[in-house]
Amino acid sequence: MDLYEALYTTRAMRRVSSEPVPDDVVRSMLDAAIRSPSGGNTQNWRWLTVTDRDTIARLGELYAEAWDELNATFYKGKKEAAEASGDEATKRVLNSAQWLADNFGTVPLVVLPYSRNDPSGASIYPGVWSLMLAARGHGIGTTLTTVLGIFKSKEVAELLGVPLDKGWQNAAAIPCGYPLGRWGLAKRAPVHEVVYEEQWGQAPQWRVDESLWDGTE
Ligand SMILES: Cc1cc2nc3c(=O)[nH]c(=O)nc-3n(C[C@H](O)[C@H](O)[C@H](O)COP(=O)(O)O)c2cc1C
Repeated sequence: MDLYEALYTTRAMRRVSSEPVPDDVVRSMLDAAIRSPSGGNTQNWRWLTVTDRDTIARLGELYAEAWDELNATFYKGKKEAAEASGDEATKRVLNSAQWLADNFGTVPLVVLPYSRNDPSGASIYPGVWSLMLAARGHGIGTTLTTVLGIFKSKEVAELLGVPLDKGWQNAAAIPCGYPLGRWGLAKRAPVHEVVYEEQWGQAPQWRVDESLWDGTE
């Protein structure tokens, strides 16, 4: 697959089927992930893959509880505000996220990256994104989720035997599977709106109104 196609179309693919992801594909995703950089090349990470149906079902229950907690706290009023203002983009994200909360327990694979001794917290996400890009290359949909780690980290650790007392911290839970939705260009605010040149607040001399990857190569 073309590198730029992968970069531009690796979306949050929450709707996936329960068809198993082949072992060689899982290995390829993980091997790509661990080629990524970490500070000082310390590779202070562990990548926990879960395919056991009962364990994923339990993760799904915890995920749904975590999602409810998010909606009752940080996201309180978000859905109502989006409905009142007709904010279709936010409504779409929330509906899609709700689908995942309702169906997390049925996905065929969850990858949970853990890291430790990483004060900036920055050493694990290059690997997470590489795993997601590699999955995209194999036609596997993924979603980077953090809500489980935020609200249910102890329960997840207990379920999976993670030694939190040894400093391991959950970075994400990534449900993976064959997409039920379609791949598409990631929708974002245009790049010139979020770039400054030379001085903070100084807009660049250029504009990019359409995505520079046009979907043809
Ligand atoms: C740090 C981070 C945490 C996220 N946590 C969640 C999550 O807990 N649940 C979820 O459904 N999506 C989660 N997402 C997915 C984002 O909502 C998604 O990447 C964003 O809406 C852009 O989606 P798109 O690439 O499909 O346009 C997370 C993404 C990031 C980068």
